[in-house]
Formats: sequence, C-alpha cells, structure tokens
Amino acid sequence: MGESEPLQGPPPFSAEWARALQAELDDSDEFRRAAAGWQGRLVLERIAEAAAGDATPRAVALYLIDGVCREAGAATPEDRRAATFVIAGPADVWQRLLDGQGSPLTALLRGQLKLVEGSVAGLLPFASAAEQLVRAAARISLAAPGPAPVVIEAAAEPEFRSMRPDGIDFDSLPMQLWQKAKQFGIWDPRAVDFSVDRRDWLRLDELERDVLLRLAALFGAGEESVTRELLPLIGVIARQGRLEEEMFLAAFLWEEAKHVEAFRLFFDEVAADRSDLSRFHTPSYRRIFYDELPAAMDRLNADSSPIAVARASATYNMIVEGVLAETGYHVYHSILERRRILPGMQQVLAHLQRDESRHLAYGVYLLSRLVAEHGEPVWRAIESRMDELLQPAVAIIQEVFAQYEEPPFGLESEVFVDFALEQFGKRLARIEKARESEDGGSVAG
Ligand SMILES: [Fe+2]
Ligand SMILES: [Fe+2]
Repeated sequence: MGESEPLQGPPPFSAEWARALQAELDDSDEFRRAAAGWQGRLVLERIAEAAAGDATPRAVALYLIDGVCREAGAATPEDRRAATFVIAGPADVWQRLLDGQGSPLTALLRGQLKLVEGSVAGLLPFASAAEQLVRAAARISLAAPGPAPVVIEAAAEPEFRSMRPDGIDFDSLPMQLWQKAKQFGIWDPRAVDFSVDRRDWLRLDELERDVLLRLAALFGAGEESVTRELLPLIGVIARQGRLEEEMFLAAFLWEEAKHVEAFRLFFDEVAADRSDLSRFHTPSYRRIFYDELPAAMDRLNADSSPIAVARASATYNMIVEGVLAETGYHVYHSILERRRILPGMQQVLAHLQRDESRHLAYGVYLLSRLVAEHGEPVWRAIESRMDELLQPAVAIIQEVFAQYEEPPFGLESEVFVDFALEQFGKRLARIEKARESEDGGSVAG
C-alpha cells in the first residue's frame, strides 16, 4: 500500500521514526493539550505479514507524561510489559491512518487495530490525543493528501412525479418506511395514562427520582433539538426532487415533535417538575446539542454538497439517534421494566424506540446512497465526523455518572459506555457495507 506517495521521512515503526515522532510531538501544542493527564508507556506495533516473508515485526514505544513524550525508540520487551496500551495492526491499516483516513479509535472499534494491552474505555479520554499523535506521525511519514474534490449535485428539474404512472417508487426503502410510519407512528402521547406512573414516582427515593429526571431532561431537549434541526435536510432532499424521501421525512418530523410532547408530559404529569431542566445539560451534552448538531444542520441552508449532507446525517442520525438516543432509551426502558415501574413511560419508550429505528434506517439508507453515488470522499467525511463526535458522545455518559457516588438502580457507567460503543461500531459497519459493494464506484470523483 501507499505506492501513490513517495516516502519522505524515516520508515514507519523504525527507531528513527519514533525519535522523529517525539520531536514532532514536542512541537505540537494540540498534542500537548489533548494529552494532558495521559501518563504511561504506549507501544505501537506493526504486525508482520508472514505470507509476504516479512520477518521484522516493528514496534515503537513512547513514554508519555502529561502531554510530553519523554522517551521514544524501538520497543523492548520491558516496554511491552510496562505499557498501559499496546496497539497493534497490519501495515495497510497503519498506512491508511498515516494517509489521514480515519482515526485510531475508530480503527480499534472496527477491529482493524487491536488493543493487545489496555481497554477501549481506558483509551477514550485520550481519543483526541491519539488522533493528534497519528497526525504528527503522518506529518513525518508521508505528504498528507489534500481533501478530494466533490461534485456538487445540480438542482433537479421541477416535475410532478405523482402525475406519471410509476412516478412514485413504492418499492423503495423510503416508501416502505413511510408505510410503516403510517402504521406504527400514529400513537398519541396524550393518550398515554400516566396515573400509575405518578404514584410510582412518589414511592421512588430521592436519588432514583434524580437520575430518572436527569436522563429525561437529556432526552427531552435532545428530541426538541432534532425537531428543530431537521428542516434544512428536508429542504435539500425536496430541492433534489427525491419525493419518496421527502414524504418519509414529513412523518419523521411529525414523530420527533410527538417525542418532544411525550417528555413534557412526563415532566408535568409524572415528575410534576416546574424547574428549569436545562441545568442537567453537561458540557459535552451542550457541545453536541447546542453547537455541533445545529451547526451541521444549518450548514445545509448554504451548502447542499454530498459531503455537507453526509456530515449532517452522520451527526443527526448516526451519533444523536444511533448512539445517544438508542443507548439512552435502551437503558432507561430496561430500568423501568426490571423495577416494574412507570408503565406509561414504558409504553412511551417502546414507541420512541420503534420510531427511532425507522429514523435510523433512513439515516443508514441516506448515507449508503451518498457513499454509493459519490464514493470515498463521502465515506471519509462520514468516518471523520463520527470520530470527532464519539468522544463527546461517550463523555455525556461519564458526566452523568460523575454526579453519583453510587448510582441508583445498580446502574453502571461501563454498561452504558459499552452499549454506546457497540452501537457506534454497528452503525459504521452498516455504511461501510455500501462502500465495499461500490468500491471503484460509478460516480466517484
Ligand atoms: Fe425522537
Ligand atoms: Fe428520531
């Protein structure tokens, strides 16, 4: 791999390379900031390719203290024993990272790189430090390729599709989702009986009420945020004349609006809470719901390029719906089910999960379509966007749990985090399928 660009620096994973990397890290303010608090030995290993007669597995060790790389060189057996993290992978995976594609964390979650020592959860707080480290390595190894050009779609000819026989593709996935939305998405939050929920609520202890209210405050604002921010995407899809998708998105928006209503009913009728619940919004929550999601969606008002749409959908469908909502609702629902409490809320959550699974199916469809139509640049945009947001997404969970010495309901932060990481991996794998089946794709470039 890597025959397209000539090697400039020392060969990757050599001792000289490690020392050049140390010097590069020394010059990097971004790395110093991101790696504050990271202390220990890190071993990066290139796994030998036995078939190719490559008998020299190479590994380098870096000793990091608080953003400074104190030592760097070829990894010794002692380095390996003392290392907090040993990350190993085949040459082509490392090469991809050095070419600026993807991040070490995503490669780990997808099983392309292996953690021989240490855990993904342990590495998460240093995800951006690891990314800065790989970027520094890329600077000394190879000329980083510039962003690939992307064709911006021309506006579709206006036409009235429903005037033609077969003008609407009823077999398409968006139309199948539309049929399901009419069947399953018509529930009414106002019809849910919360009277038993209110009685259950009064019997819960203070800490139990606190965690249920806190999580609901994250869900409720999240639902309001996806309701508010969906319109720019609908606008792009409508202007492109994709009637089937626009029809489903109409149901999608209506469902999100009902989700907002459902949580307000919970606050009013079950928790009977009159306070300002945005006090529960933690820094990472604010980053995603106050900044990243609105910015990615709002961009579509000025830029309807496939990359902008892919970044918006990766943020909205994959991270917010696919990782955060799915994890949150799954865990919340299982608490209530296990304790046999809040039956009205259990009904609501079952509806929410079913609605969200359609939204997510649309997101996977949209992103797969964009990858199939526009190839690698779009795939890379999706991958890097998901990388960017994985760390703050997981940090939301950690910030919630940091509020409790001993979380009620026997909740464990790791269960949430593991579930979220699993969702993240699954989502990415689904879209990657579209990329693999379209390799060398028709419209790429
Ligand atoms: Fe929703
Ligand atoms: Fe949704």
